[in-house]
Amino acid sequence: MVVLECRDISISYPVKRDFFGRVTEKISVLNGVSLKLEKGKSTGILGDSGCGKTTLARILLDLEKPDTGDVFYRGNSIYKMDRKEYKSYRVNVQAVFQNPYNSLNPRMKVKDIVAEGLRINFKFKRDEIETMVRSTLSSCGLPDSIMELYPHQLSGGQRQRVAIARAVILKPEVIIADEPTSALDVSVQSQIINLFIELQETFSISYLFISHNPAVVDALCDDLYVLDKGKLCYVESGDFKSG
Ligand SMILES: Nc1ncnc2c1ncn2[C@@H]1O[C@H](COP(=O)(O)OP(=O)(O)O)[C@@H](O)[C@H]1O
Ligand SMILES: [Mg+2]
Repeated sequence: MVVLECRDISISYPVKRDFFGRVTEKISVLNGVSLKLEKGKSTGILGDSGCGKTTLARILLDLEKPDTGDVFYRGNSIYKMDRKEYKSYRVNVQAVFQNPYNSLNPRMKVKDIVAEGLRINFKFKRDEIETMVRSTLSSCGLPDSIMELYPHQLSGGQRQRVAIARAVILKPEVIIADEPTSALDVSVQSQIINLFIELQETFSISYLFISHNPAVVDALCDDLYVLDKGKLCYVESGDFKSG
């Protein structure tokens, strides 16, 4: 089953304006990009820096609107959904970004960061939320003692684990991970990759794993695409996971 799909996505950004503020030159960042994510499978997107990977991730997460094209969650266009469908899409398609320093609210404690999505989207009781936060932190390799801390009191690896816990607690069908290890020390990168692999086995999440590093994508993905000059090309199919 196809969980998330985009069809014919194009977007360009203005690079020059004239005296009157009119756009005189644009760069095309994505040009007719189509992609399907199958349930339970992991898809990798490889591409050089600046090729539009983050732009595509943001469009799939509805953080940015394309000039043309459509995004479908479970077959329905996210631009035409009713509130209930749209909420289900927002809960089920989660994100982990490159830099957990920017993506975690510095004024919130870890327990509140991880619980936020539950509080916004569901009506759980306090003690239910607390139990879910504890068990999710544990699944993400974090001790309970971290709950009362703020992001700046954590290591880079711990911060990224918190960002992952915040996504995983909602039991999403898809996690879009945009360069999730690029901002981390090399020694920590493989630990975070292993965590993604473990979480997939536990919760059967589909990943869209975006990276400029072939080794990272190779460790995790069933399918691989390369994004180059605004076009997405399918490279390999089947299981080529190493090990
Ligand atoms: N909001 C924006 N306004 C103008 N240009 C942008 C904007 N966002 C991204 N770009 C440009 O689009 C291109 C792709 O950016 P991005 O998606 O961040 O690439 P990647 O994640 O692959 O490094 C870059 O040239 C970038 O400068
Ligand atoms: Mg990027």
